[in-house]
Amino acid sequence: MVGTTVGIVSESLPGERRVAMTPGALSVLKKSNVELLMESGAGVAAGMPDAEYAEKGVRLASREDVFASSEVILQVRSLGANLQAGRADLAHLRRGQAVIGFGEPLTSIDAARDLAERGVSFLSMELMPRITRAQSMDALSSMATIAGYKAALIAANSLPRMFPMLMTAAGTVAPARVLVLGAGVAGLQAIATARRLGAVVSGYDIRAAVREQIESIGARFVVLDLGEASAEDKGGYAKAMSEDFYRRQREAMANVLAEQNVVITTAAVPGKRAPILVTREMVRRMPPGSVIIDIAAERGGNCELTRPGEVVEEHGVQIYGPVNLPSTIPYHASQMYARNIATFLKYLIKDGNFTLNQEDEIVRETLVTHAGEVVHARVREAMGLASLETVS
Ligand code: NAI
Repeated sequence: MVGTTVGIVSESLPGERRVAMTPGALSVLKKSNVELLMESGAGVAAGMPDAEYAEKGVRLASREDVFASSEVILQVRSLGANLQAGRADLAHLRRGQAVIGFGEPLTSIDAARDLAERGVSFLSMELMPRITRAQSMDALSSMATIAGYKAALIAANSLPRMFPMLMTAAGTVAPARVLVLGAGVAGLQAIATARRLGAVVSGYDIRAAVREQIESIGARFVVLDLGEASAEDKGGYAKAMSEDFYRRQREAMANVLAEQNVVITTAAVPGKRAPILVTREMVRRMPPGSVIIDIAAERGGNCELTRPGEVVEEHGVQIYGPVNLPSTIPYHASQMYARNIATFLKYLIKDGNFTLNQEDEIVRETLVTHAGEVVHARVREAMGLASLETVS
């Protein structure tokens, strides 16, 4: 019996080096009765040659053939997260076909409309609910882990000081002081990495619940007394706070920042622009030679001076706005992403058939387009469309 035909294509965003499936992650799908088809060379930039896939039974084909023959297409960056080059794929997609990947559905509204028009079922990895049962499918967390690690390395590499304390015959070197703002997945990894390199690290988050986690990896938790009730929503994410809250937070933060050599910012509120935590004025008060690594750059940045993809210098302080950090560590980023997507795919295959049961929370939360419609409630809201319940 032929089960589900699953296709893997090369990523077309310029500079993207990840691949959606790796030879190692195929073991997850062993019992799912899938037939795998891959565009030749799709894994090469991630360090995974065709032969390793072929050894695991993956059939190599042209891009066109992969699109034409697959029931499900796996991507890292689907159209919404690859707005220009990704357009070329629209013509290859057909009604009833499923696409799984990142697609920035809450902001790339035209892409959702176009995919719906093609009749494609698009499942967005960004929308994976952060619930226990979906943890092993949470690709945003995997990629944030990589970004947090890399942010600490960029800081260490660009700082005109060393991270560790050293006692040498030439005197004692003081350790670098690193502050991480936002201690979610990326922030905690940045803290852990900066600690491993020997810096003196502190961390701050509006969710008081992370204090224990920050301290357990050897960093100090910065307390700003802002007299606020819970900043956490029911899903465990940060809530959007009032402008007055953010203003008070910035005032209290300025003094802490003035003592740092490195500030790594990762603060995020789902579906919203990144909150501004570091103002021009605060940067001016930092010691010259310090660096800020703002990994929230793609979502507007946590520092008001950040420019995505650029390094800005202000008053002797370098402000980095790195984008697409996971792609700079393509081997492990692909390995983690592939594991997440393979687990998701396995979950969607019931009795050998790829099935989209919209009663299921994980399906409902991730399914953006289906049968010619944008079906996701929040995406519809972002597009200004009435909810489907109201329509029918
Ligand atoms: P997360 O949701 O796990 O963590 C964000 C943290 O920010 C939460 O702990 C939250 O409580 C905190 N936060 C929110 N508002 C705050 C405030 N006003 N002050 C202090 N803390 C605040 O998110 P995750 O997965 O760690 O991602 C963090 C950021 O990294 C996101 O902006 C994401 O887009 C970005 N990212 C960037 C990449 C890149 O290549 N540049 C790659 C992957 C993620």
